[in-house]
Amino acid sequence: ALERTLSIIKPDAVAKNVIGEIYARFEKAGLKVVAAKMKHLSRSEAEGFYAVHRERPFFGALVEFMISGPVMIQVLEGEGAIAKNRELMGATNPKEADAGTIRADFADSIDANAVHGSDAPETASTEIAYFFATTELCPR
Ligand code: CMP
Repeated sequence: ALERTLSIIKPDAVAKNVIGEIYARFEKAGLKVVAAKMKHLSRSEAEGFYAVHRERPFFGALVEFMISGPVMIQVLEGEGAIAKNRELMGATNPKEADAGTIRADFADSIDANAVHGSDAPETASTEIAYFFATTELCPR
């Protein structure tokens, strides 16, 4: 099915100046950018976005990292976009990520892991709505 998913290029990858290289991977895989914004998240924005992880031991470090610099946030559209984006990203821990994936090529650690991508249709809709008004998305 034609899907939309939320993608974030995290502060480590923005600092490495690889936004364009990561966008090229999305585009070569047939994913279209249908909305995008660069933003330096506030603490409350980062905490709200990752609220499902609030009780996890890594929550504090994750929030600190996500507010350490600007991020690039985009909505990607395509056939099976949610799974396709997760294939392009590779495993959460870059040490376990397959060769040629974004995390294998650009990530340094499980926290500084270059990108985020929604993991399911329900999370994709809540995550897209968290950062974008309907009027900011290209019409389908
Ligand atoms: P992300 O896909 O953005 O979702 C939550 C983030 O928490 C994850 O990527 C990792 O960067 C970070 N994280 C840190 N430690 C862990 C862990 N043990 N398991 C899952 N995610 C972790």
